[in-house]
Amino acid sequence: MNAPLRLGIAGLGTVGASVVRLLERQGDAIATQLGRPVRVVAVSARDRSRDRGINLDSIAWHEDPVALANANSIDVFVELIGGDDGPAHASVRAALESGKGVVTANKALLARHGVALAALAEERGAELSFEAAVGGGIPIVKTLREALAGNRLTRLYGILNGTCNFILTRMEAGADYPSALREAQALGYAEADPTFDVEGLDAAQKLAILTSLAFGTEIDSDSVYVEGITGITPDDLAAAEELGYRIKLLGVAQRTDSGIEQRVHPTMVPRDCDIARISGVTNAVAVEGDFIGSVVLSGPGAGGEATASAVVGDIMDQARGVRVPPLGRPAASLEPYRRARMRAHEGGYYLRLKVLDRPGAFAAIAQRMAEGGISLDSIVQRNRPIGTAPKRGTEEAQPVTIITHSTTEQAVRAALAGIEAGGEVFGRPQMIRIEAL
Ligand SMILES: NC(=O)c1ccc[n+]([C@@H]2O[C@H](COP(=O)([O-])OP(=O)(O)OC[C@H]3O[C@@H](n4cnc5c(N)ncnc54)[C@H](OP(=O)(O)O)[C@@H]3O)[C@@H](O)[C@H]2O)c1
Repeated sequence: MNAPLRLGIAGLGTVGASVVRLLERQGDAIATQLGRPVRVVAVSARDRSRDRGINLDSIAWHEDPVALANANSIDVFVELIGGDDGPAHASVRAALESGKGVVTANKALLARHGVALAALAEERGAELSFEAAVGGGIPIVKTLREALAGNRLTRLYGILNGTCNFILTRMEAGADYPSALREAQALGYAEADPTFDVEGLDAAQKLAILTSLAFGTEIDSDSVYVEGITGITPDDLAAAEELGYRIKLLGVAQRTDSGIEQRVHPTMVPRDCDIARISGVTNAVAVEGDFIGSVVLSGPGAGGEATASAVVGDIMDQARGVRVPPLGRPAASLEPYRRARMRAHEGGYYLRLKVLDRPGAFAAIAQRMAEGGISLDSIVQRNRPIGTAPKRGTEEAQPVTIITHSTTEQAVRAALAGIEAGGEVFGRPQMIRIEAL
């Protein structure tokens, strides 16, 4: 047996404690695979007295994660604190500065500082691994960085947030948004303040990291177009079902003539495609490339054990001395991210309007679409049997759903603005993009 790999773990919460448990349980098998044992020799967390269900008796305790990162007693620093700045950032930098390998599950840190940290790691000859930062237990980082590296990738898309997918799955089964969210919170899938998940921000951070790996560009999480799921109604899910679609919160990164699109938004996907079948908290990522065609990976996107599985995979790579540039190519050779503007996005659209039930309203809407060069695949007036008239003397609103053929976001937005201004509809129209899969 060779010398042990000595770990310092900062953060002993959901993921950190699971990593310690995994290393305890599989320690012998891991040592046999590596030809050397992996030992947790030092840890750091906030509250030393907290019972974490793990035995820390023979492990050194550091109050300060930066001191742990600097300690000579460790070879690899494992950052499982979280947050894009503060102690997570300071300790990861300190570890890399001193030439130690770093393993982290921190998407926020990578989304914001990933390029600078990758450059620092390369400069100091240290490894920086972050498989667990995207897709929890799904090995998507390694797949993009290594296994698919020979391809020219064209599009990547996925369900990157289990909370949103769980809520949408429950809404398909008949729940409304507030009760689906409450259920997600009761099951521990959603935070008390769910904003970060349901507004698409978590998925956007993950997408920004994947975009860099897929297209060799600098990480630019500020340029992701983001829409969350809070505006999706049971009516939309029912309409999707009728039309042969499912609604998923997708993160999509795609090469276009004008740059690379990065977008996170509720998306209609054909009911029979792989991604449509992913239900509950499961995550999935599909990658399309010139030689591979299409690959879909799915699995648990979060949870202590699944995430610990990815963290330990990274630790084992470092124990073997595997050396790969953190972002798949030298940080200095990453291209600047060139943003494709959302207005230039091309695709089909689902629109749901509450149209005033008065003569000419329907025709006026069709006219505005035609003027914008938008061709319609279908236009359906819902909920009122064909041939029945509205109540006399009232101006009822009739729900109308429209599916367009492929068009541009700019054309759709302009047509909707015209329809709203023209007073033919009640309230704000709903618009959901359709992804051609
Ligand atoms: N949970 C998941 O399913 C999941 C999935 C993928 C990625 N991740 C990522 O994994 C990381 C950890 O997530 P988590 O869910 O395990 O978080 P968590 O349960 O909140 O644990 C955070 C840990 O960090 C410690 N900590 C906080 N501030 C500290 C400081 N100043 N110094 C030292 N320790 C400090 C906490 O100490 P105390 O315990 O003493 O409070 C706690 O042990 C995050 O980056 C997260 O995004 C999580």
